[in-house]
Amino acid sequence: MISNRKFNFRPMRDDDLDSVLIIDHLSFSIPWPKSAYLHDLQKNQNAILWVAEDVSESPNRKVIAMIDVWMILKDAHIATLAVHPDYRGQGIASNLLELLLLEVYRRGATRVMLEVRESNLKAQSIYREFGFEVVHRRRRYYRDNQEDALLMNLEDLESEIKTNQRYKTLLANQRSKAISGN
Ligand SMILES: CC(C)(COP(=O)(O)OP(=O)(O)OC[C@H]1O[C@@H](n2cnc3c(N)ncnc32)[C@H](O)[C@@H]1OP(=O)(O)O)[C@@H](O)C(=O)NCCC(=O)NCCS
Repeated sequence: MISNRKFNFRPMRDDDLDSVLIIDHLSFSIPWPKSAYLHDLQKNQNAILWVAEDVSESPNRKVIAMIDVWMILKDAHIATLAVHPDYRGQGIASNLLELLLLEVYRRGATRVMLEVRESNLKAQSIYREFGFEVVHRRRRYYRDNQEDALLMNLEDLESEIKTNQRYKTLLANQRSKAISGN
């Protein structure tokens, strides 16, 4: 694991795609094709894509994680989330989730949904910490090993944001950044 690094979180750009595809291939047994990311980046107005980058050796920045969320009316759907294996276990996925859940809330989402492999206990544990609960099982959903998908929903995004301490800290930090102009 690469630790003691500085991270920055920002919207994804076209020139992040090569790094994003590497992370995708290292993270999923059914990776997304480049065309899927390109579509979401350039054509899908309802897609919100962010990356995390390691800025410890600035100006050399390295993209190390990504998230893609689709807004469909008042529902937000987490389409993908992955962290480079060298950078896992340092809260990067949690940071990306916090930022994106706040962003979709600001854009009017009231509910958030996702699918996760039944065997992916780590991801399920993160989602539970964010208030998601299993609402349904899709049998044999994944075509590589016929594994079931669990559908997890965060039914009341507003109350989660208003009650979960993590957002209070994030909002306070964002406010103080806005005031100091950084
Ligand atoms: C799932 C994934 C995104 C997590 O990224 P990450 O940056 O390592 O996650 P975080 O460091 O933010 O972990 C947050 C929480 O996850 C849980 N967690 C972390 N590692 C865990 C492990 N090995 N086992 C169980 N839970 C674990 C803990 O609850 C942790 O909270 P803590 O900070 O109190 O310990 C990453 O492992 C990954 O990219 N996996 C492959 C792709 C994937 O599965 N994506 C999700 C698809 S639905």
